[in-house]
Amino acid sequence: MKSITVKAPGRINLIGEHIDYNHGFVLPAAINKSAIVSISKRSDQQIHLTAIDILDELIIESFSDLVIQEKKWANYIIGVIAQFQKKHSFEVGFNLAITSDVPIGAGLSSSAAIECAVAYGLNELFELGIDKMELAFMAQKAEHEFAGVQCGIMDQFASIFGKSDQVVLLDCASMEFEYFPLILTDYQIVLFDTGVKHALANSEYNTRKFECEKGLQLIQQQHPHIKSFREVSITMLEACIDKIKNANIYKRCKYVIEEIHRTMEATKNLKQNDLTSFGEKMFATHEGLSLLYEVSCPELDILVNAVKDNTNVLGARMMGGGFGGCTINIIKQTEIQQVVHEMSTIYKAQTGQDLKHYEVQIVSGAQVCS
Ligand code: GLA
Repeated sequence: MKSITVKAPGRINLIGEHIDYNHGFVLPAAINKSAIVSISKRSDQQIHLTAIDILDELIIESFSDLVIQEKKWANYIIGVIAQFQKKHSFEVGFNLAITSDVPIGAGLSSSAAIECAVAYGLNELFELGIDKMELAFMAQKAEHEFAGVQCGIMDQFASIFGKSDQVVLLDCASMEFEYFPLILTDYQIVLFDTGVKHALANSEYNTRKFECEKGLQLIQQQHPHIKSFREVSITMLEACIDKIKNANIYKRCKYVIEEIHRTMEATKNLKQNDLTSFGEKMFATHEGLSLLYEVSCPELDILVNAVKDNTNVLGARMMGGGFGGCTINIIKQTEIQQVVHEMSTIYKAQTGQDLKHYEVQIVSGAQVCS
């Protein structure tokens, strides 16, 4: 029976956090940690799913049984199959086995990696001819409908469209994008993993999205021509303060407006190899995420504060949805070992936990392995 093996990576995001669903710009890249799926057709209508890493299995009797399961891992896969079912009917079932080395809950998009590997693999195996952008949107829909997170498009986009050694500036309103090389000369990206994922993460994520939508609607009452936060300045926001009575909504809007602007400036810095200015903006983003957007947590703040005055670290901030996961840092190559050592000591002393770190490489997006 014909079978196919596909891998899809996790991602980092240089800057532009919580901005994708606010129709601004983001700057992600795919990393050398991936989900790998192997899929082969069956002769009946059953779907057999195997999670290799946790030795678990699930058999779905037919395509009419694609519903949310108690086994969480299965939902990322079934969610994607359900999207295919809406448009294309499969003539036969399949066996699908999955393994992944994207750390779970680390803010590196382990779920998007699974969704994209499944979407890419099914499209190839059944020769459906769906284009890559459509696959990314289908994977995102799976997250909305089967994982309950109203995520933006950044993670799935990066997992499918990543390019080796390049970052990609994505306009989340038009979905136009531009690659450019990430040149860090004698610096390197290092991620520090808090090792925590707070239970709040998913519900608070959805709340932030709602708060931003509400905030934009209130601004639109004063400025009906405005389509997104991209067209809103801080002065315009201040002028709407009587309408936006809720302090949280005001803070969320302020962060989004500032981060959209900061991301554009930071992208210029990066293109001009001005890593010092870029790094300063990373710290500013963290402050916004922590104080205005309120998606950080004590562990993330400890990690960012610990490198703030370290001259070997140009910039650091929490990355991804927040409430745990990783910080992204730009560290002088020759000093990485020393910084890791210092950070591990600080983290252990302040939280009692061991600190993991990852030195990631930037790789290409989803692809067929065999
Ligand atoms: C999660 C979501 C993304 C994005 C980030 C925050 O990773 O899946 O869509 O919103 O959080 O930037």
